[in-house]
Amino acid sequence: MSIWHLASSIIMGAPTTNRFPNHLAMIFPVLLLFLRASAAAIASDTLNNGGNITDGETLVSAAGSFTLGFFSPTGVPAKRYLGIWFTASPDAVCWVANRDTPLSNNTSGVLVIASTGILRLLDGSGQTAWSSNTTRSAPAVAQLLDTGNLVVREQSSGGEVQWQSFDHPSNTLLAGMRLGMDPQTGAEWSLTSWRAPNDPTPGDCRRVMDTRGLPDCVSWQGNVKKYRTGPWNGLWFSGVPEMASYSELFSNQVVVRPDEIAYIFNATADAPFSRLVLNEVGTLLRLAWDPASRVWNTFAQAPRDVCDDYAMCGAFGLCNVNTASTLFCSCVVGFSPVNPSQWSMRESGGGCRRNVPLECGNGTTTDGFMVVRGVKLPDTDNTTVDMSATLDQCRARCFANCSCVAYAAADIRGGGAGSGCVMWTNYIVDVRYVDKGQDLYVRLAKSEFAKEKRMDVARIVLPVLASVLALTAACLYLVWICRLRGQRRNNNVQKKEILGDENLELPFVSFGDIVTATNNFSEANMLGQGGFGKVYKGMLDKNKEVAIKRLGEGSGQGVEEFRNEVVLIAKLQHRNLVRLLGCCIHGDEKLLIYEYLPNKSLDSFIFDAASKKVLDWPTRFQIIKGISRGLLYLHQDSRLTIIHRDLKPSNILLDADMSPKISDFGMARIFGGNQHEANTNRVVGTYGYMSPEYAMDGVFSVKSDTYSFGVILLEIISGLKISLTHITNFPNLLAYAWSLWKEGKAMNLVDSSLLGSCSPNEALRCIHIGLLCVQDNPNGRPLMSSVVFMLENETTALSIPKQPVYFSQRYSEAQETRENTSSSMSNMDLTVLEGR
Ligand SMILES: *[C@@H]1O[C@H](CO)[C@@H](O)[C@H](O)[C@H]1NC(C)=O
Ligand SMILES: *[C@@H]1O[C@H](CO)[C@@H](O)[C@H](O)[C@H]1NC(C)=O
Ligand SMILES: *[C@@H]1O[C@H](CO)[C@@H](O)[C@H](O)[C@H]1NC(C)=O
Ligand SMILES: *[C@@H]1O[C@H](CO)[C@@H](O)[C@H](O)[C@H]1NC(C)=O
Ligand SMILES: *[C@@H]1O[C@H](CO)[C@@H](O)[C@H](O)[C@H]1NC(C)=O
Ligand SMILES: *[C@@H]1O[C@H](CO)[C@@H](O)[C@H](O)[C@H]1NC(C)=O
Ligand SMILES: *[C@@H]1O[C@H](CO)[C@@H](O)[C@H](O)[C@H]1NC(C)=O
Ligand SMILES: *[C@@H]1O[C@H](CO)[C@@H](O)[C@H](O)[C@H]1NC(C)=O
Repeated sequence: MSIWHLASSIIMGAPTTNRFPNHLAMIFPVLLLFLRASAAAIASDTLNNGGNITDGETLVSAAGSFTLGFFSPTGVPAKRYLGIWFTASPDAVCWVANRDTPLSNNTSGVLVIASTGILRLLDGSGQTAWSSNTTRSAPAVAQLLDTGNLVVREQSSGGEVQWQSFDHPSNTLLAGMRLGMDPQTGAEWSLTSWRAPNDPTPGDCRRVMDTRGLPDCVSWQGNVKKYRTGPWNGLWFSGVPEMASYSELFSNQVVVRPDEIAYIFNATADAPFSRLVLNEVGTLLRLAWDPASRVWNTFAQAPRDVCDDYAMCGAFGLCNVNTASTLFCSCVVGFSPVNPSQWSMRESGGGCRRNVPLECGNGTTTDGFMVVRGVKLPDTDNTTVDMSATLDQCRARCFANCSCVAYAAADIRGGGAGSGCVMWTNYIVDVRYVDKGQDLYVRLAKSEFAKEKRMDVARIVLPVLASVLALTAACLYLVWICRLRGQRRNNNVQKKEILGDENLELPFVSFGDIVTATNNFSEANMLGQGGFGKVYKGMLDKNKEVAIKRLGEGSGQGVEEFRNEVVLIAKLQHRNLVRLLGCCIHGDEKLLIYEYLPNKSLDSFIFDAASKKVLDWPTRFQIIKGISRGLLYLHQDSRLTIIHRDLKPSNILLDADMSPKISDFGMARIFGGNQHEANTNRVVGTYGYMSPEYAMDGVFSVKSDTYSFGVILLEIISGLKISLTHITNFPNLLAYAWSLWKEGKAMNLVDSSLLGSCSPNEALRCIHIGLLCVQDNPNGRPLMSSVVFMLENETTALSIPKQPVYFSQRYSEAQETRENTSSSMSNMDLTVLEGR
């Protein structure tokens, strides 16, 4: 699900309190008047010259969106702060005046506006705890605006703004605020995290606009650079192209002027009320208010994944989260890891070095530039930026200077050809692949370039050759099909001809061989049975053990579609997926051949009193991570998005090292289900693991798999089945887990056989993630990319899960169906419900 979908589902909620779209204002004028009147009765939005606000009194902005007053953070009643919060959600404190100097003499603080126009916060004894520090000295008034900005205006001289809270951000950026700096004075508009969720004291995380190269928003933790958005390219920050996809809600802008370089976002009238918060661990969250359910939804977050970690792959390294391997790092073409052994241990910070030194233009041969496409541009600190040069001029300049190692367009509006460029000296760092990424030109020695050219030739010529061949084959095939149409089908000839030239990797096995391999599908060879058909063990090529799935009849899919799907699925390769080795088509028979895994499926371990001891906590944690990576690969592989739709412990096989491998993926495609349709009349899956929206309404998305993953995760930790037949007080595992978690007793959920080996932190974090995954609202569930990230990074903040309402309300219904359908099947079964 894209951010855009998330956005539109947020918008579908009722309008926010502070941004009534015009048409709604016309429909509800009475309501508006009422709001204004009642707000005025409570408090005014203006503090007049000489006036004051004591603890308990507030300023409320004209339309009621924001309130200024005194507050104490949760659990710290003795400390009083002056702040501005979102009226509908008083926990959403957007600005704090006296972060460093809380008032300890509880409710005796007072905010006064002196006749000089200075705001002063006085404690009980009249000492100044904080002041607005303006230089001008003239009578003024303070007004809280509906944007959340507290402005001090001179009473005379046309109300010129003397001071505003927007110039002194705390940890929150609101629409209209600036994140940036004034290059002339060095003044900075930056965010500083709170020290703890209930401690506004400045913490050690900061978010600033780095203006040393191209404008780039950077998160720091202490002196360590943690994350950068990538340079602003005129449309978005280079590493966050998804900004563009919600530009209809928030117009993002970077202002570059002599006295100001700053990022500002404006919200449109339709946008939900949103705020950007730098939390205590340095994660920037864009939270959007859902007025209907009165909660904040996380709309976007940064960093998003491991590749967002600053300089994850070191100098000349390239990070890729969508890789089948668990190594996210590789080197730019022409470079190799400085320390290959470290590299494979995922210590990739050492980076890469050049295979061949640069010639630097003094021989007969010269260097060239290799384009790396689709990336977030490297850190532009210490670079040369020329906003008037064209890309060609840049290339020439970079070429002429030996220390210049790369260049790129600085502004991609208008194709990026004529509007400035940036040149890197000595090295590049912090590069990752992103969708809609930019082109980066990296300098390589001529010899490397020649090598690459040969490969390029191969890359161009081979596909051309292949497509010519494929075309020829296709024509021949068509001719053959036409001839075949007239004939009676001879089943034996089909298998060879169906083999296109491009499918050499996927062997098509003859039906006769399979009959032999499975001893004519004997009962003794049967491994199990699922909704898609029976699975047999077989021996191919004398000594190769394989698992053969004989698909049930009536898939309704043609031979050609089947072939296409199998070829696609066979290309999916990941260490956490069971490999598809081949297939066989014989008349109406369709068979799939998989690698055979001697260890059994996950359910036979975690639910078995004796076998569960084999899986200690580190092993289970690895299994959880492995499943999440396999699923991420299925969801986000660039060529096709596979939604598993029937994820459950019996579909997770364990190899000899207890590494998990997801099986039965892509069955919906192979079986003829339409994966592009978000709504299906054929609900495949197993109750308990099916998300509510899929089970009830047939609507599925990658978030349906997230749900199943959450259930499995909780099962792995607890060793309890979702149906939870033996803990009588709870309808199911989710309700039980939720109840323990809510009471702060989540550790009680952990399987008693794990208590010796278990790390409480990891287990609690897993339970938390599990509960996030099984939330009723698909939008609330994380994407698998976030899940992988949350599992790998212990310090990532997790949002608060909501109660999984599905089962508390709908369980009994599902339970009945489950009992009806499962009576005749074993626990390996797959419940298929059709024609709902
Ligand atoms: C606040 O204003 C009230 C009158 O409205 C006045 O009596 C009081 O002295 C003022 N307090 C301070 C600290 O200025
Ligand atoms: C003021 O704070 C002290 C502790 O610091 C507490 O005992 C007292 O009850 C508080 N008084 C009021 C009026 O809140
Ligand atoms: C606390 O405030 C009261 C007035 O409300 C004042 O009399 C007292 O001196 C203050 N104490 C301190 C320690 O500031
Ligand atoms: C007020 O500004 C001056 C310089 O303009 C600075 O020296 C002083 O520390 C500031 N005071 C506060 C409380 O920020
Ligand atoms: C944001 O809104 C303000 C006031 O409506 C306007 O002056 C400014 O140009 C807008 N900025 C952007 C980026 O749309
Ligand atoms: C090229 O320049 C480097 C130093 O920049 C020098 O060491 C090398 O000898 C030069 N090679 C030629 C062929 O001039
Ligand atoms: C830029 O130069 C400074 C000072 O030499 C250095 O601390 C910093 O790491 C450099 N930045 C990058 C991205 O190399
Ligand atoms: C090459 O680029 C570096 C870094 O920008 C600069 O310091 C140096 O002066 C340049 N050399 C020439 C000859 O332009």
